[in-house]
Amino acid sequence: MTIDANGPSNGFSNGHGTAAAKTPAHSAAPAFGFSTRSIHVGSSPDAATGAVIPPISLSTTYAQTAIGVHKGFEYSRSGNPNRDALEAQLAAIEAGGTSAVAYASGSAVTGSLVMLAEHLAREQNNGARAHIVAVNDVYGGTWRYMTHVSQADVTRLDLETATEEALTAAIQPNTKLVWIETPTNPTMRLIDIRFVVDTVRKHPSRPVVLVDNTFMSPYYQSPLLQGADIVMHSLTKYINGHSDVVGGALILPEHHSSSTPSSLLTRLRYLQNAVGAVPSPFDCALVQRGAKTLALRMKAHGTNALAVASFLSTHPLIERVSYPGLRTHPLHTRALKSLSPHAQRWIHSLPEEQVAQGVPYGGMASFVVRGDSEEHRGRRAEKFLTSTKLFTLAESLGGVESLAEHPARMTHMTLPEEERLKLGISAGLVRLSVGVEDVDDLLEDVRQALEAAAKV
Ligand SMILES: Cc1ncc(COP(=O)(O)O)c(C=O)c1O
Repeated sequence: MTIDANGPSNGFSNGHGTAAAKTPAHSAAPAFGFSTRSIHVGSSPDAATGAVIPPISLSTTYAQTAIGVHKGFEYSRSGNPNRDALEAQLAAIEAGGTSAVAYASGSAVTGSLVMLAEHLAREQNNGARAHIVAVNDVYGGTWRYMTHVSQADVTRLDLETATEEALTAAIQPNTKLVWIETPTNPTMRLIDIRFVVDTVRKHPSRPVVLVDNTFMSPYYQSPLLQGADIVMHSLTKYINGHSDVVGGALILPEHHSSSTPSSLLTRLRYLQNAVGAVPSPFDCALVQRGAKTLALRMKAHGTNALAVASFLSTHPLIERVSYPGLRTHPLHTRALKSLSPHAQRWIHSLPEEQVAQGVPYGGMASFVVRGDSEEHRGRRAEKFLTSTKLFTLAESLGGVESLAEHPARMTHMTLPEEERLKLGISAGLVRLSVGVEDVDDLLEDVRQALEAAAKV
């Protein structure tokens, strides 16, 4: 017996066979919990050997007994057992998801989504260019793709504060994609997904609403349950969780997952195969392994990040901390509203003293060192970053190890300075990816690095 997200079944959930892997992996009320789904969906024992972990299938091509007669696989770019298994698992853990499409990186997902918008615009508006509405504080690489690579026109909007009128006014007849990232990177702006979806739905252009859920992971936030059309992840971050794979994926709800030629799933599968930016079977197996412990890791990331953010919020050298889980955060109520049903259940079960200052809300936090942007031009932030012993100075996020970086000179350097400053990415801003080490060790590390920074 194997299980899919809905409970025990006799189907193959390990993806060894296209029919099984394309079976809806999730329903609105799954019988199994988040961790059970992440461990079992896509991972049933191998039918041939009984191996509990599905083998890695390196073959690029698959034997046919007659022309077009095969066991569901033809050529590995179009589909292979490990990618099917990973896609089934991802569809099962992103609540509200039915199908998933995996890519070689998060950036490859971005490229495919912009191409999708371009296709939809060409088809529906007699060859018009696509128009995209994107949150102004989008990930730097997404900004680079939209601005310098794609042919689409882009309107960037502060979706944290945009009114219904402003958002409606930004949507044009050729707007095919609305791009949300929440919380944003690195300033942790919060966008009300439901509000954006409801506003966009009223417009006759009816663009696709995409949420990049990389920062929160499927554990803390479920955009499909708030009406989004597509969720994307850089698998490189929390889902793999061990800083050893670059990958990406998008997940679609049931109403976009049919096999009709015009469904979003069919269009995206076509692009996935045509462009060929697919993950290797080995990478799929690694991500699958990482994703099995996603809930365990995210709980630890969240409790550690809350402790670090609480400590920073009372430290005299800190001007501002951005961690939406803190009760003092101006949009804390909005943060609570966006929590997934499983995260809410877990948080409600925590002892009161653990949630006195706030609630776990992912592992990302950022802070501004007092007076640093103007007076010290980022030298205190730099001293902090070179004085930590456990937080490694490095780009990326979402691994078990704690990382710290300087957005203005690292991840967000591609943004013109004027843009950066408008967004609040100042010289004194530091971004933390809080890992799952022992919390007291992390707090001591932050304390001693701030002590060093204060001497600058
Ligand atoms: C929010 C977000 N989206 C997308 C990406 C791009 O993903 P990748 O690096 O896997 O191409 C990143 C990478 O940092 C990211 O932080």
